[in-house]
Amino acid sequence: MATSSRSATIDETQQLRERIEALGPWFHNLRLNGVETAPFHYLGDYPQAKFASFRHVIPEDLTGKTVLDIGCNAGFYSLEMYRRGASRVVGIDSDERYLSQARLAAQVTGARIEFRQMSVWNVAELREKFDLVIFMGVLYHLRHPLLALDLIHEHVARDQMLFQSMQRGSTDVLCPEPDYDFHESRQFDEPSYPKLHFVEHRYAHDETNWWIPNRACVEAMLRSSGFSIEAQPEGEVYLCRWQPVSVPPDGPHAVYPAHPSRSHD
Ligand SMILES: C[S@@+](CC[C@H](N)C(=O)[O-])C[C@H]1O[C@@H](n2cnc3c(N)ncnc32)[C@H](O)[C@@H]1O
Repeated sequence: MATSSRSATIDETQQLRERIEALGPWFHNLRLNGVETAPFHYLGDYPQAKFASFRHVIPEDLTGKTVLDIGCNAGFYSLEMYRRGASRVVGIDSDERYLSQARLAAQVTGARIEFRQMSVWNVAELREKFDLVIFMGVLYHLRHPLLALDLIHEHVARDQMLFQSMQRGSTDVLCPEPDYDFHESRQFDEPSYPKLHFVEHRYAHDETNWWIPNRACVEAMLRSSGFSIEAQPEGEVYLCRWQPVSVPPDGPHAVYPAHPSRSHD
């Protein structure tokens, strides 16, 4: 009896290994019933090791809170927010293969998380605002990064946003003056002036990297989109809070689509 139940466990583990392998390669190293999904990740034990440096900025108890994880990948952060008791967790990603990984992870861990194939460009279609939006590791993959922040601010963020972007260039932060004379241009040569580096071809062998900001630029973009910075627990990670943005009627608020799509009515 003991032998058969032991061999059943070995069989189940082997089956799980095969399912994990079939869905690979994985970007998130999850531990599913003791099986690691990406044990040889080039960033180490990712994102667990990174999360260790900022996990404290999110309350351990999220009871009653709703969470939207944009670019959820295999669901590391979604699973963690569910573990912390969030009443509703929605994970979206544009890549169906990553979502299949996330669904497997939720199934194995018994987490009730809604995973949907959806791009950040379509978040208005959720028709829902969330207490916590997680927007980690996606900004620099977008051709239109400010538009993404505008859409999140307008349509899905209610209170807090956990944000991360790769950064390159100076980590010094120059806070620009409110205005400069037309003939005043030296500030643009300062490494600490907000700068977005455009990647025409590839960076890190990845053609989906488009715009890589320096630190001053990340912070200016967040503020400009209506997110005040409450904490920076790690060089690339920010905990932000939603703020109203005052936009003149003909102002620069480039929100597309301005309203949820009517196509599903
Ligand atoms: C570098 S991974 C970050 C994953 C996870 N958020 C993290 O921090 O570990 C980028 C993720 O964003 C997703 N992604 C890229 N463009 C997207 C878009 N337009 N809308 C939604 N997700 C997107 C990718 O499929 C990928 O899963």
